[in-house]
Amino acid sequence: MPTVLITGANRGLGLEFVRQYAADGWTVHACCRSPDAAKELKAIKGAIMIHALDVADRASVKALAKALKSTAIDVLINNAGVYGGERDRQTFGKVDDGSWDATLRANALGPLMITEALIDNVVRGGPKIIACVTSKMGSMADNRSGGAYIYRASKAALNAVVVSLALDLKARGVTVIAFHPGWVQTDMGGRGAPITPKVSVAGMRAVITAARPADSGKFLNYNAATIPW
Ligand SMILES: NC(=O)c1ccc[n+]([C@@H]2O[C@H](COP(=O)([O-])OP(=O)(O)OC[C@H]3O[C@@H](n4cnc5c(N)ncnc54)[C@H](OP(=O)(O)O)[C@@H]3O)[C@@H](O)[C@H]2O)c1
Repeated sequence: MPTVLITGANRGLGLEFVRQYAADGWTVHACCRSPDAAKELKAIKGAIMIHALDVADRASVKALAKALKSTAIDVLINNAGVYGGERDRQTFGKVDDGSWDATLRANALGPLMITEALIDNVVRGGPKIIACVTSKMGSMADNRSGGAYIYRASKAALNAVVVSLALDLKARGVTVIAFHPGWVQTDMGGRGAPITPKVSVAGMRAVITAARPADSGKFLNYNAATIPW
């Protein structure tokens, strides 16, 4: 069966990705910061290997790559992300510069470091897909409400990373996609969000299954619609 690696796998969208891929019989490398505390993740049945990973920590990324040395990864999902501190510390005049660096590091540098560290594993895989869960909040064209400076900047940076990865990895047959998962009921999205993790993840999985090299460098909604950069 195919193999998928998922970051931020202990809750929210990452946990749902694990549930759905494991239920379909995939081998799942589920990565999270604190495996010991990941009760819901550990309760999922299937071929699941849990790894400790802090996406913002280069040593942690390197240790994961070492552990996975010759493992082929068919689909790599860079899902882990943070909002970047309190919402009212992201408004004009109140931006928390302490959160800025950490958020950019986790949301944009993290997926790049992981991709660099695991690229040989992905190239060894079949479909060679890298999916990065970004946000419409990182779109320039879609920004009609302003604010959210830290989160928007971090996802815009991730979007730039995705486009460069798509170009740089084309010759190696790797397809790199940026996803907007929708506004989803998770700790980050809140209870008032209109979409369940189940629907969002099922949609992204369908897009991943159908993805071809010509889709590399696209910014897609969970329902396959194109999002303007
Ligand atoms: N929910 C939405 O409406 C929405 C909309 C647009 C985009 N997104 C994006 O979707 C992705 C998943 O979000 P979510 O809604 O599932 O959020 P969530 O419920 O807050 O979960 C975030 C996940 O990321 C992990 N994480 C954060 N920083 C990490 C780090 N440095 N190293 C490893 N793991 C880290 C968290 O682990 P810990 O438990 O250790 O903190 C957690 O597993 C994020 O990239 C988010 O920006 C979400």
